[in-house]
Amino acid sequence: MSVKEQLDKKKLPKHVAIIMDGNGRWARKRGNARVFGHQQGVKSVREVTEAAAELGLKFLTLYAFSTENWSRPKTEVDALMSLLVSTISSETKTLMDNNVKLKTIGCKENLPGDVRDKLTACMDQTKDNDGLTLVLALSYSSRWEIVEGVKKIASDVLDGKLNVDQVNADIFSHYLETSYMPDPELLIRTSGELRISNFLLWQIAYSELYFCNVLWPDFRKEHFFKALLDFQGRERRFGKISDQVKK
Ligand code: FPP
Repeated sequence: MSVKEQLDKKKLPKHVAIIMDGNGRWARKRGNARVFGHQQGVKSVREVTEAAAELGLKFLTLYAFSTENWSRPKTEVDALMSLLVSTISSETKTLMDNNVKLKTIGCKENLPGDVRDKLTACMDQTKDNDGLTLVLALSYSSRWEIVEGVKKIASDVLDGKLNVDQVNADIFSHYLETSYMPDPELLIRTSGELRISNFLLWQIAYSELYFCNVLWPDFRKEHFFKALLDFQGRERRFGKISDQVKK
């Protein structure tokens, strides 16, 4: 039986988040420039998006560019931005064919104009698709998002729209970029690094973490299904004891 066939279709997560890591190392191992790794990484993005859509997942969030990534060499940043523009253009039809809606989280104002324009056009074109929502984290970091959320709450309190006593974890979640999504049940990081790197810190409070050694450009549907199978073998207790969650 294939890994996909072994999956319990009734116990799939609604939301999977991925830290796509290892593009640079993949390219260097082949004696190529880092940007070559990013180009190859687009194929893996297509694979996981298709796999997630096939399985009927509701949300797939990909860490495509962090706030900290702005400090990479300008040539690499520029190459990543033009890769985004060309990928969005070439993949919009695939998103439509697979009933996928595109969304982003992160500081859009920091992105170059052409990237913003392409994203806006693609989000607009795919907005009525009701299958998978593909969320690209762009110029995103969790600490930035949390600070922005705190600022919005403070402003609503000052404007008398919100009472300080009303603020709780649920209300706070509504002030984050991810307000319309359930928290990810599963977070995957490729390339063997065991870090979270400022990604969805609030939202992964109870997520299952899955680390694998595969470098992102080598990540295929089979690897994704394997991570989901591993997830299905875990017992999620949310602070309770085993007997309580088995009931
Ligand atoms: C991490 O590898 C990868 C990134 C920072 C960028 C991810 C971008 C893509 C996969 C391509 C474009 C994406 C979309 C959605 C079109 P790294 O460069 O940190 O690798 P290293 O750790 O080996 O140096």
